[in-house]
Amino acid sequence: MCGIVGYIGKRNPKDIIYEGLKKLEYRGYDSAGIALFQEGKIKIKRSQGKLSQLQKEMADPHFFATPHHEIFLALGHTRWATQGRPSEKNAHPHQAGSVVLVHNGIIENFSSIKETLLKKGHTFASDTDSEVIASLINDHIREGHDFETSVQRAAQQLVGSFSVGVMFEGDPGTLIAVRNGTPLVLGVCESENFIASDIAALLSHTHRFVYLEDQEMAVLKKGQWVVKNLNGKPISKAIKEINWTQEMIEKGGFQHFMLKEIFEQPQAVIHTLQDRVRKDEQGLLFPEVSKLLKELNPLGRIYLVACGSAYYASMVGKYLFEQFSHVPCEQDLASEFRYREPLIGKNDLLIVTSQSGETADTLAALREAKKRGAKVLAICNVKESSIDREADVTVYTYAGPEIGVASTKAFTAQLTVFGLLAIHVGMVKGVLSEQAAFDFIQELIRLPLAMENLLKQDAYIKKIAQKFYRKKTFLYLGRGTNYPIALEGALKLKEISYMNAEGYAAGEMKHGPIALVDEDTPVIILAPQDRHYEKVLSNLEEIKARDGVVIAIGNEGDERLKKLSDYMIEIPKRSELCTPILEAIPVQLIAYDIALKKGTDIDQPRNLAKSVTVE
Ligand code: G6P
Repeated sequence: MCGIVGYIGKRNPKDIIYEGLKKLEYRGYDSAGIALFQEGKIKIKRSQGKLSQLQKEMADPHFFATPHHEIFLALGHTRWATQGRPSEKNAHPHQAGSVVLVHNGIIENFSSIKETLLKKGHTFASDTDSEVIASLINDHIREGHDFETSVQRAAQQLVGSFSVGVMFEGDPGTLIAVRNGTPLVLGVCESENFIASDIAALLSHTHRFVYLEDQEMAVLKKGQWVVKNLNGKPISKAIKEINWTQEMIEKGGFQHFMLKEIFEQPQAVIHTLQDRVRKDEQGLLFPEVSKLLKELNPLGRIYLVACGSAYYASMVGKYLFEQFSHVPCEQDLASEFRYREPLIGKNDLLIVTSQSGETADTLAALREAKKRGAKVLAICNVKESSIDREADVTVYTYAGPEIGVASTKAFTAQLTVFGLLAIHVGMVKGVLSEQAAFDFIQELIRLPLAMENLLKQDAYIKKIAQKFYRKKTFLYLGRGTNYPIALEGALKLKEISYMNAEGYAAGEMKHGPIALVDEDTPVIILAPQDRHYEKVLSNLEEIKARDGVVIAIGNEGDERLKKLSDYMIEIPKRSELCTPILEAIPVQLIAYDIALKKGTDIDQPRNLAKSVTVE
């Protein structure tokens, strides 16, 4: 959701804040703003639209920063609207008296607080819940409390999720940050310090971070920082070194982050496999998972819970765990699981999957399962994220930073982890023979090369995009482990090209989606030569009998499929463990190439945000 960045130090903060916001723009991009100290007063620039609009505002020669005792202080914000439509007046920072604030989250009790403040004579310029926080802090200051106490008191009154950065004209040497429910990190250096919603904003300045927990506040002053609880008691915090680099979050010559990330997938799989495959390639190294399984003995059910693309990855995981490990599985959307009285107990394992590790519903599902006594394993791409820190065990996807809003390399890395875990659990339970495990491990090791080759089909997929980008609706069909990829393909197209796309289990085709079939509705059908092949081919015949146009994704050399379909994208023949990973590449490229033809904003599609940190 929204992105926050703040600076205190000796350098001019204008560019630091702007560059930080650029790195956070994928979190939200409907409006943006910056606040800085100028000759003892806080000056604000805000604008609706993307950061480039704010940049124009910031070019105003009368808008500049001046230091107080050699120290500059500034805050920036990029917004994804929750309360109050996108507009300049609803953009952050918000000012109340001499308090200026940026906020990420949702304040649930803002109406009652606002009412009380209105009665006390406060006025409001925006429709946001965020302005109410600024006003509440200002109210405490007016009552005679100092800056720090006022922020503490206000934070104690708020119900909901919030991370905030606050400045106060009466104390130009202090920047305060509070976290409750949405992420906030301090970037620490010798002579300057930062706050940000995530580390991407700060990697060009530091690799040393302090992660705030819920109900913690950080007080930053010249060359120093301290973390306290909301009663003002200092808390000792560890500094974590994170080795992601600045280059990893740049486009590296690609037109879009999404395309770069699609092409990075072989590397993401290599890194995710690394250190997990035993040197003799006869088994896998998951000591932490084995330990967890021992604690759970006998293992009851595996619950697979996530949101968005991670949910579809979990769906593949369910098929794999049932097939390779013989463990009964349930799978659910995090937003459903957390509210449906799940019958999860102390012998069950919850597997949450999340690229960011900050998705609000997934985090809440994790907490719900823990409350019910279950163990939690996270599949996560961001170390030290909330989900990583709260899970009993984390298996990392080493996809590197994913910036494009539509998930690609994190998705295939998640599928890789599910493949590894299904083999490992199968071996631990003794239901997968050593020979079978060895064969699957070999397949995984060879997967990145097959992915590299598949990426070379981009030119052919561009031709398909050229042919179909003006269509209104696409249908994606698949069966078994291909079904979640049909869903993921439809989601990718929807997300970045704003087209209507339906993903369906091929076996359900006659229960509705076949009504969509005509010469104007391209059908993307996933038809590898697996145990569902003949049935899926019957579906294909039924589509052709109704003048449907078929783009098939099938196995190399499958002449029968080629003859039946209008276009065919060929993938190498593999088991159900690796086929979904291979299929993911063409469905991602189809979505990308169509969006490119349509000229949409691929990396920052309308209304979406990379990290959904509010419900
Ligand atoms: C958002 C993103 C998706 C992502 C989903 C879950 O909707 O746009 O790309 O799959 O959140 O995010 P997570 O970080 O939990 O994987």
